[in-house]
Amino acid sequence: MIYRTHYAGALSEEQLGQKVILAGWVQRRRDHGGLIFLDLRDREGLVQVVFSPDTAPEAFAVAEKVRSEYVLLVEGEVRRRPEGTENPRLRTGNLEVRAVSCAILNPSRTPPFYIEDGLQVEEDLRLRYRYLDLRRPEMQEALRLRHRAAKAARDYLDAHGFWEVETPVLTRSTPEGARDYLVPSRVYPGRFYALPQSPQLFKQLLMVAGVDRYFQIVRCFRDEDLRADRQPEFTQIDLEMSFVTAEDVMHLSEGLISTLCREVAGVEPPQPFPRLTYSEAMSLYGTDRPDLRYDMLLTDVSDLVAGAEFQVFAQAVAKGGCVKGIAVPGAAHFSRKEIDDLTRFAALFGAKGLAYIQLLPEGPRSPILKFLGAGLVEALRQRLRAEEGALLLFVADRREVVERSLGALRSRLAQELKLERPGWSFVWVVDFPLLEFDAEEGRYVALHHPFTAPLPEDIPWLETSPERVRSQAYDLVLNGVELGGGSIRINSPALQEQVFRLIGLSPEEAREKFGFLLEALEYGAPPHGGIAFGFDRVLMLLLRRDTIRDVIPFPKTQKAQDLLMQAPAPVTQEQLRELHLRVELPPGAVSAAKKA
Ligand code: AMO
Ligand code: AMP
Repeated sequence: MIYRTHYAGALSEEQLGQKVILAGWVQRRRDHGGLIFLDLRDREGLVQVVFSPDTAPEAFAVAEKVRSEYVLLVEGEVRRRPEGTENPRLRTGNLEVRAVSCAILNPSRTPPFYIEDGLQVEEDLRLRYRYLDLRRPEMQEALRLRHRAAKAARDYLDAHGFWEVETPVLTRSTPEGARDYLVPSRVYPGRFYALPQSPQLFKQLLMVAGVDRYFQIVRCFRDEDLRADRQPEFTQIDLEMSFVTAEDVMHLSEGLISTLCREVAGVEPPQPFPRLTYSEAMSLYGTDRPDLRYDMLLTDVSDLVAGAEFQVFAQAVAKGGCVKGIAVPGAAHFSRKEIDDLTRFAALFGAKGLAYIQLLPEGPRSPILKFLGAGLVEALRQRLRAEEGALLLFVADRREVVERSLGALRSRLAQELKLERPGWSFVWVVDFPLLEFDAEEGRYVALHHPFTAPLPEDIPWLETSPERVRSQAYDLVLNGVELGGGSIRINSPALQEQVFRLIGLSPEEAREKFGFLLEALEYGAPPHGGIAFGFDRVLMLLLRRDTIRDVIPFPKTQKAQDLLMQAPAPVTQEQLRELHLRVELPPGAVSAAKKA
């Protein structure tokens, strides 16, 4: 028994005149003047199969019975399609297979949606029937390119002397800032493994172990609020190197990412990637994930408005805050309602108001025109380099509020008005603060993770003004999305202990949680650093998909459910007993345990 001599979708003129055996799914059946045409689909694409009652009556009789998604075995001869019937949109569009015999290997129920690209159905339905969704060409393409990209990453890293080393999935908490997924231990009642948020500590231990260059394409687990670019389990291309500077890691990363671009999208971005310091990114773009595909830079006008009659502006500056603006091209005509909407949006980020000037053909219009005066309005226009037709937006407040709210407005408006220039915008953000003060917790927290090394020249500030200390961390941003982040690590036990103390860990707590790391650092830890890239995000952006779910074979919903396997699921009382667990449901929750 031979199932297949060729992939249906890969047939070419080379096979003209040959007998082939194909196996695949029925995409579509059309009956035409006594002939039946079937589009047969496999992983590589489609080919048209023709059944004639005259030349192959038995095959024709089988073809009469088939429906969409039936699994067929077809034997036939490859021919050129009659002139005028070619389909230029199909790779095999000038060929067809004239069936000689045909067998139904398996029938199919009518699928809940069409197996085709550009599907307009609820995502939940696609996820529930993921095995059908994955049959669609664009999903097969995502799977294929995910494989190609992983292979290219392995080859690149192998060529640069990296070893792929596996690290445990059942481990203990690694602080990457999210909540842990926990796994109860049966053997040790009341104790839990944590699933790794990243292999961070293991890869550092591998450097102490002398591995020198480690990488892993590795699953990470984070229980956090989900978004289009976040999943509870996701994949990192994770790497770590010994005896390197931040420059070395960034240089190697640019090579890796460019290789992935070439493999997945067929083009390499220009290198080196541009860089911004954290403070430049915040002050010009209002975010540490700047998208450089559009302008609308945040522009400081504090000096111009400090003495203005408009108290909102003057007061903000007087109190040590600032006033900044952005010029939105082509938005001068926005209605009152649209501007109110933007004001409410800015309020989500703490802005107490949004001042605006519409640069209309008949002259500037603004509710605060009379407070500003024509001279100041003209000075603002010039400072923002705005042309007629632009809408100028200003926020006056503490610097953080001004930057955060204008940064959010900037990216929202760029998307709404489609101001993004085509192409990729890679940018490194460097010189992050080591720590930030968390007002809710009343203590400093690590901006990246607590193993990140401070810049040597800033170490003297650690005790006196910790918020001034910059770190040797770097993030790679693509089109406003954080692709990856890493740092040079602390390799001195004393400095590591000092940083733990600054983030509020007592020496006892530090020993309890990270004693193994502190101890390892005492046994000759080499200088080391690394980075991790969100593999799903890389693919999402390079394949121009809207969510990372479209590049993950079996993703979870925004509510962290697996609709296909129906996870999470209740377990039996017996299982709970074995794990020494008792479940206390919150009011209104549905049963967590099924009857044993
Ligand atoms: P970080 O926490 O920045 O660094 O993670 C690295 C990259 O992983 C991706 N990522 C995610 N992708 C999908 N869903 C998520 N929930 C998610 N969370 C993170 C992002 C991010 O840039 N151990 C450090 C790396 C290091 O210091 O070497 C780490 O994990 O693209
Ligand atoms: P008010 O004097 O509060 O009526 O505000 C007059 C204009 O200034 C309105 O368009 C407000 O949205 C705007 N405004 C108020 N507070 C701020 C602020 N902190 N920053 C920018 N604009 C503001």
